[in-house]
Amino acid sequence: MILKDKNVILGITGGIAAYKACDIIRALVKLEANVECILTENAAKFITPLTLQTLSKNAVYCDMFEKIGKWEISHVSLAKKADIILIAPATAEIISKLACGSARDLLLCTVLASKAKVIVCPAMNENMFSHAATRKNIETLQGYGYEFVMPQTGELACGLSGDGRLADTQTILKTVVGALTQKRNNAEPL
Ligand SMILES: Cc1cc2nc3c(=O)[nH]c(=O)nc-3n(C[C@H](O)[C@H](O)[C@H](O)COP(=O)(O)O)c2cc1C
Repeated sequence: MILKDKNVILGITGGIAAYKACDIIRALVKLEANVECILTENAAKFITPLTLQTLSKNAVYCDMFEKIGKWEISHVSLAKKADIILIAPATAEIISKLACGSARDLLLCTVLASKAKVIVCPAMNENMFSHAATRKNIETLQGYGYEFVMPQTGELACGLSGDGRLADTQTILKTVVGALTQKRNNAEPL
């Protein structure tokens, strides 16, 4: 299948669209990708590791100080393994932390430690998305080569309708498949 032997590290952050990560996992697994999820502490308030573990058929990582294997440090191991790091949904918070190079949690450390391509799928309230700080952070990350799957216009969880809704699964999938079927960009050792 199209994504056989590809390792997708899926970062899930604490927004209402976290439940949509389930659809993304299912779509990736259907294409035979190996999907391993990293949840931020806040994401775990929106969706349970058990659900993600069941759908991905893999362990789910939340805690930076939890070891993966006997000799491995989780963020280094996941960073090395990644053919791609997909962050969906990405909150305003994670975008801001990524833009300043924070290594505060497991997801941030994994991104910093990896040479894999990073795809970020923002989802947030329209005003958060259009705020100058968020726009500037996105520009900074685009300058680092991060790819964005921009949100769509539609009904938002806050009750308003606007720009900020997570891009649909098919659009995200298309971007991931496009990136993974180009030349592998995490081939060099760290
Ligand atoms: C019910 C609820 C829904 C939220 N939805 C979003 C959202 O869609 N996008 C966003 O950027 N932040 C949202 N937030 C705020 C984030 O949870 C908050 O910024 C948090 O610090 C994000 O942490 P993380 O990025 O480390 O997961 C929401 C908060 C609550 C309580």
